[in-house]
Amino acid sequence: MMFIVIHQATELWLKLVTFETRLAMRHIAADDLGPAFKALARVARIQHVLIESWQVLSTMTPTDYLTFRSLFGSASGLQSSQYREIEFLLGRRSIRYVDMFDGDNRARLENTLAAASLYDEALLLLERRGLLVSVDRDWSSEHEPSDEVTDAWLAVYLDPARHWDLYELAEKLVDVEHAFSRWRYEHYQTVHRIIGSKPGSGGTSGLGYLKRALDFVFFPELWAVRTRL
Ligand code: HEM
Repeated sequence: MMFIVIHQATELWLKLVTFETRLAMRHIAADDLGPAFKALARVARIQHVLIESWQVLSTMTPTDYLTFRSLFGSASGLQSSQYREIEFLLGRRSIRYVDMFDGDNRARLENTLAAASLYDEALLLLERRGLLVSVDRDWSSEHEPSDEVTDAWLAVYLDPARHWDLYELAEKLVDVEHAFSRWRYEHYQTVHRIIGSKPGSGGTSGLGYLKRALDFVFFPELWAVRTRL
């Protein structure tokens, strides 16, 4: 019961995360940053609820888990189209995940990949403010970290008073990324204590797969700028 409730509750919160992220993106595109900040703050609060929910799941022992493991076969978190949609919305562009979905879920993921991400919207805003020359790329391809983008964020961080709204946007994005990686880490740790190093139900190596996912960064230049300051 606990396993089912946590998965269902998480999916419901993820639905709100996709909604608020899309709302923030529309407001950024319209140069209306106040409401975008509100939506991103809400996303980060929801992420903290999700991080905390690992506390409940981690009361499950390996023995508890084995009492029902045979019931769900190869079902896996990999099948969460909303999780993937959020990764895509934030800026990850790994098209290989789309193949495991069909119907409406697949169409939603394909449409998300074909459009600008949240990070792209932030970069387009930097372009409109004259801090970036041109953000012209195929939205469906992975964002390549660039010195030009780091320089643009550097200008913002070196003079927050002049670029306050961009500075606030940058920190809101870092809040979301920070919380996302904490969620991934809690997932990794919980999986470690429940199934050890067994392969995942979805056919991956399990811990090894989740560990590699910890390295993924949505907003690389916002982390690089910290080293440059
Ligand atoms: C007993 C608890 C859990 C275990 C043992 C577990 C294990 C795993 C493993 C091993 C993977 C790698 C893919 C695979 O081979 O299946 C995975 C992926 C995933 N799990 Fe869990 N998980 C648990 C609970 C949860 C919960 C509560 C959620 C939230 C809804 C969740 C969401 C996900 C997602 C979204 C992925 C895909 C991650 C990615 O591709 O980066 N998992 N899980």
